[in-house]
Amino acid sequence: MRLLVTGGAGYIGSHTSVLLLEAGHDVTVIDNLCNSSPMALERVQELAGRSLRFVEGDVRSREDLNRAFEGGIDAVIHLAALKAVGESCEKPLRYFENNIGGTICLMQVMEVHGVQRLVFSSSATVYGQAESVPVREDAPLRVTNPYGRTKLVMEQLIQDWCAAQPKASAVLLRYFNPVGAHPSGRIGEDPRGEPNNLMPYIAQVALGRREFLRVHGDDYPTIDGTGVRDYLHVMDLADAHLKALKYAVANPGCGVFNLGTGRGYSVREMVAAFEVASGREIHCRIGGRRAGDVSELTADPSRANEILSWRAAHDLAAMCADTWRWQQQNPTGYE
Ligand code: NAD
Ligand code: UFG
Repeated sequence: MRLLVTGGAGYIGSHTSVLLLEAGHDVTVIDNLCNSSPMALERVQELAGRSLRFVEGDVRSREDLNRAFEGGIDAVIHLAALKAVGESCEKPLRYFENNIGGTICLMQVMEVHGVQRLVFSSSATVYGQAESVPVREDAPLRVTNPYGRTKLVMEQLIQDWCAAQPKASAVLLRYFNPVGAHPSGRIGEDPRGEPNNLMPYIAQVALGRREFLRVHGDDYPTIDGTGVRDYLHVMDLADAHLKALKYAVANPGCGVFNLGTGRGYSVREMVAAFEVASGREIHCRIGGRRAGDVSELTADPSRANEILSWRAAHDLAAMCADTWRWQQQNPTGYE
């Protein structure tokens, strides 16, 4: 297929693009590089042994999108978004404009070009503080921050767009906590500045770039008091996009799927596993709870297991080993 990957230079987009190229698809990436490096795309092509087409541009620009659709596109994988929860609370309009505005513009240009297949990066954040875990796709949706709101609104807009066209298909993928890196260590997560997320933070502490990990609370009602999440390997997540595309081709309408392993790990368990993988001690200090955090969020991935024939294959040891390889080989990321 001829595929357009928005945000393809980013963390998840780069890993997904490798697998798409390896599967023989023609890939065009559109990315404005606001949170990524063009070097990621060079390495994607090196790993896949094939080239892709890169359009440096913004999904809020019809002109840029028209350039990306030139030559024909059969389906779009839409990952481009801003994703920092804390920043979204300070600058909500920036998030509404970029994420929601970009998605509306993308759907408009898809319509002009007659493209009716869309795979969308949603997030477990749409569940907020779930009443019970693991969560199924039909659990109540409630968001706790502007970033989450953009994901929920985009899901709803895509559902309405899909319902208005009998042949259109959309797949909403609710990612839980993606971690890890390509096993080669050539591509991985490269956060700018101080990482917000646990795994890149731990990796930078192991490397000596940061002194200690601040554990955001140890008084949650969890096995050891620290927050529990459903971490999944980014290569498994990338693979889910191939399965979602296949599903979109065969099934008009809008499907929604949780992507996680179904198994939760606490912050302390993550630290212990990373210490084993790296052979380094991770210094920790216990701090207060982080505003907006939930105590425990894990996926029930049965729908994706059954309907997409997708299952996370990598365990926590592989997630830590691959993160560590990437971090060691690229101590300052793509710079
Ligand atoms: P990322 O920041 O590494 O990648 C996003 C990419 O989109 C970046 O390369 C950025 O430059 C690009 N981008 C942003 N706005 C753009 C715009 N207006 N036009 C063109 N390009 C633009 O983030 P990621 O972790 O790879 O996340 C990819 C998607 O998955 C996002 O939609 C994110 O919300 C979603 N998601 C991520 C996580 C996570 O923990 N990483 C969890 C759930 C959902
Ligand atoms: N944590 C720490 N110290 C840190 C960073 C995180 O203790 O320095 C803890 C958090 O309190 C939480 C766990 O590690 O208990 C995971 O935190 P992350 O920030 O890595 O992940 P979140 O689950 O909070 O959020 C992530 C993405 C969101 C997305 C959500 C979906 O950042 O964008 O997953 O589940 F919406």
